[in-house]
Order: sequence, then C-alpha cells, then structure tokens
Amino acid sequence: MRPSLLTSGAVLEAQGKPDSLSLFIFQETMYIEENTYKNDMISLIFLLKEKVGALAKVLRIFEEKSINLTHIESRPSRVNKDEYEFFINLDRRNTPLLTDIIKTLRNEMGVTVHELSRKKKKDAVPWFPRTIQELDRFANQILSYGAELDADHPGFKDPVYRARRKEFADMAYNYRHGQPIPKVTYTEEEKKTWGTVFRELKTLYPTHACYEHNHVFPLLEKYCGYQEDNIPQLEDVSKFLQTCTGFRLRPVAGLLSSRDFLAGLAFRVFHSTQYIRHGSKPMYTPEPDVCHELLGHVPLFADISFAQFSQEIGLASLGAPDEYIEKLATVYWFTVEFGLCKEGDTIKAYGAGLLSSFGELQYCLSDKPEIQSLNLEKTAVQKYPVTEFQPEKVRRFASSIPRPFSIRYDPYTQRIEVLDNAKQLKNLAESISSEMGTLCSALKKIE
Ligand SMILES: [Fe+2]
Repeated sequence: MRPSLLTSGAVLEAQGKPDSLSLFIFQETMYIEENTYKNDMISLIFLLKEKVGALAKVLRIFEEKSINLTHIESRPSRVNKDEYEFFINLDRRNTPLLTDIIKTLRNEMGVTVHELSRKKKKDAVPWFPRTIQELDRFANQILSYGAELDADHPGFKDPVYRARRKEFADMAYNYRHGQPIPKVTYTEEEKKTWGTVFRELKTLYPTHACYEHNHVFPLLEKYCGYQEDNIPQLEDVSKFLQTCTGFRLRPVAGLLSSRDFLAGLAFRVFHSTQYIRHGSKPMYTPEPDVCHELLGHVPLFADISFAQFSQEIGLASLGAPDEYIEKLATVYWFTVEFGLCKEGDTIKAYGAGLLSSFGELQYCLSDKPEIQSLNLEKTAVQKYPVTEFQPEKVRRFASSIPRPFSIRYDPYTQRIEVLDNAKQLKNLAESISSEMGTLCSALKKIE
C-alpha cells in the first residue's frame, strides 16, 4: 500500500485524491478570535479624483443610508497621480443597502468601485488581500489549529507532543508580517527525528530529485544550516529565499483554506509549518511538517522559473470564484506537491510531497504510477499527475477565470494592482516599454 501523501497548507491529506479537498469550512475554535467579525465584513475599493470635498461627498452617501464604516484607509493612487485610492470595510448588517450605494457611486459620481466579500454573495468578488501586510488579516483564519490532532495521529495520546504543538501554533498565530520568524530551540528528540528523515532522503536525491533541487541543496547546506544534526531555522531559510527569488516563508498556525493559502503565493509568500512530526514515526506524517517544508518545498522556491510558476497560481486565485479556486488547488496539488518532470529521457521529482517522503519518492519513479503531461484545463478537473512547471500555461488558464478586472503584482510595493481603467493600462504599457528598452539594449550589447 502506498504511504499516505503529504500535503501543504492548502490541501488536506486525502489518500492522494484532491476531490476531497475541504474548502471554506471555517471551524470556529476558541483560538480564532475575530473570525466572526472578519467573515461578516465587506470591503469596497474605489478611486477618487483629488478634489476638495470629494471624499466627504462619498462618505455622506454612506451616512445618509446609516451605513456603519468599520475601517477606512487611503493612499495616493500609484497609477493615476491625481487620484486617491480608498479601501473601506463595512458591517455586513448593512448589505441590503449596499447595491444602491454602489449604484450611486458609479452612476452619480463616476467612481470605479469594487466590492470584495469573504462570504459568498451574488455579484461580489471574493475578498482578497491587496498588500503583503494584509496577509495578517486572514493568516490565522485557520481550518484547524495546529494543536488539534486527529485520533489516529501518532502524537494524539502524547501530552508532551500536544503541548509542544500548541507552542508552535501560538507562535505562528501571533506572527505579523515584517517581524523576524521566531527562532526555535529544537529538542534532542526533534533533532533526532529530523536527522533520520534528512539522512534517508538525502540518499535518494541524486537519482530521484530534479536538477533544480539538487542544484540548490548544497547551498542550503552551506548557508541555511541544512545538516543531519540541525533543523534549519525558518528565518534563515526565508532570508536565503528572498535573495534567490523574493519568496519568503511565513509561519502558519494550522491549516488554511485553499483560497487563503494560494493568495499567499501571489505575494511570493509561502505559509510554512515550523513543528516536526511525532518522533515515534519519523518516516510518516499525516500533515505537512517542517521536514516537508524544508526538504520538499524550499529548494524549489529558490528556482526562478518555479517561483514564477507558483506565483502565477497565486495571482490566478485572487478574487476567483470558488469553483476556480478548487481547480487551482488541484493544479497546485499535481505540480507543486506531486509534480514530476522530464530531464532528457529520465523522469525526476519536483513536487514537495514526493521530495519529502522516502516512500513516495521511490514509488513515483517506479513503473507503477500513471504519468500525464501538463494540460491545465484537463488537470484542473481530472485527477492525474502532471509534469513540468510552465508559468505561461497558468497565465492562459488564469485568463479563463471570470473576474471583472485584471490584476498585476507590483514587486516594488508588494501590492496587487487592479487594472480596470485605460490610464492604468497606459502606465503599465509605459513600464513594459521601458523594460523592453532595457532588454533590447542588453541584447545589442551581447550580439
Ligand atoms: Fe506542501
């Protein structure tokens, strides 16, 4: 029998089948404060021309309808110099009046307005973070807290392990963007578990792992403390990844919904666990742990193409309807988690679920699994393994997702730009034209 498959934060362990992914099931626990509030929140984003009294006029519309605004923030629009961008939150109790308000803003004031909602609502774009800091808002809206173990978990009856898991979960729960990831003093037993996994997997990498994994692994040993007797610190690894591809790690307290997990990828943020599997079964874990993240995911996030590919999946997910989130989670499953690629005539593994499991890694390169080439439209609805990471295929797939606007990630501000008017597009064209100029000039110099 195949060992259980490992998964990352986005997807649940499900006997290798993504059709049982649990999406959007928010289990309220005592740890999830603000959950009710956040789920009851509706946000609007709109642009206003810099004109005396313009904002007051907008606010008056809300006031007249007795709508309670719970949060308002503004920033100069980066794309239209004479405009301001506003982001407001309002109480869900006000929803019946919202349609009228949006109509008034659009028709009478000519305001471009987008409605974002975390709850399913007809015609609303599902809420998504616009800035990297906003990952703080949902990162702790977890499906299950890290200390809550299932009855068949190897650590279920171990009170010491459970207490330790709660320590990790609390640490991640209190983490905020910009802070250094807390360093952990791992116990001797934890280091022993890591050592067993590290030693066994390392013997397989030269023959089973893809080129990219083997290429970066010595650098992780050299710069990030990847050693048999040392569990690397997420902070060190995150800093290393930032210098390679701009990807960073962020500790997570438990399992995130697919939507939230994928949104992190849009900002090149990977939600990572920090605890380690139970010492009684070092070669098995029913959930992602630090071995899975550090040995499976991290090496690939140091690769430029793979980083781009992962981010494309994340960008495609922002504001996408639920059924597309499920499709993207399936694509993620068969690539980032269980992807195989061809090197010449040889098949190699690049999926983290394979690279972090001794049994899976051996199995995937045997003659037993059925291997299919990457076809996102098909992969998104069918349940077969795929190969290679190809960002342009994700982009093409993303263009089929119904969204009322296009989006783009601005790496300088770490913000998502919603592209919904001619002037923004003109600015984007100018910026691309400048990049093209650099490219042409560089090409001429190497001719
Ligand atoms: Fe994973």
